[in-house]
Amino acid sequence: MEEVEKHYFTYNDIHRTVKKLATEIQSSGFIPDVIVAIGTGGFIPARILKTFISRPILTVGLSYYDENNQPKAAPEKIQWIDEVETKLKDKKILLVDEVDDSRVTLEYCLKELLSHKPSEMVVAVLHNKKKEKRGVIPEGVAGYFAGEILEDEWICYPWDAVDIDEQELAASKQR
Ligand code: G4P
Ligand code: MG
Repeated sequence: MEEVEKHYFTYNDIHRTVKKLATEIQSSGFIPDVIVAIGTGGFIPARILKTFISRPILTVGLSYYDENNQPKAAPEKIQWIDEVETKLKDKKILLVDEVDDSRVTLEYCLKELLSHKPSEMVVAVLHNKKKEKRGVIPEGVAGYFAGEILEDEWICYPWDAVDIDEQELAASKQR
């Protein structure tokens, strides 16, 4: 069986990448009113980002893969924003997720958020995988930031680690 290349990251790696993203976003002049995190992978990056860009965090849950790990026809909302009209209309939104992979979930989420007429919409991801994307960043998105561009490998995030010491070891061996 073909081995899938894996790329391991530590919490410190993630923190540094978020800090770099925050600096780039701030240098662009964009100051969000609200951060929207896509769960669950976007939760921890969004919380770290709040240390540098202190704004309220709203969360959304979307699922694109079924119980057999096969993509569904389209992503489904499993959790959304209460009183969404007042929270998003005419607001500057910074959407945060951990990885831009197929881009299908990102496209779906960006379109849903744009339908509430924010004044500005910017997206930030920790990692963008270099590959052919099935989704597109919709028109109306004013900015796109990726902390790092990676090959199309499987990324192992520290929050998925069952043994965090093994995770650190695997990450340090890759350096
Ligand atoms: P995209 O629009 O952001 O590109 O996402 P896409 O629909 O292609 O895939 C979404 C799911 O696949 C997300 O998780 C995402 O975290 C996960 N994913 C894609 N590539 C990787 C990877 O290299 N490593 C890891 N760990 N996950 C990856 P989800 O199932 O929707 O939810 P959750 O895991 O964030 O809770
Ligand atoms: Mg995930």
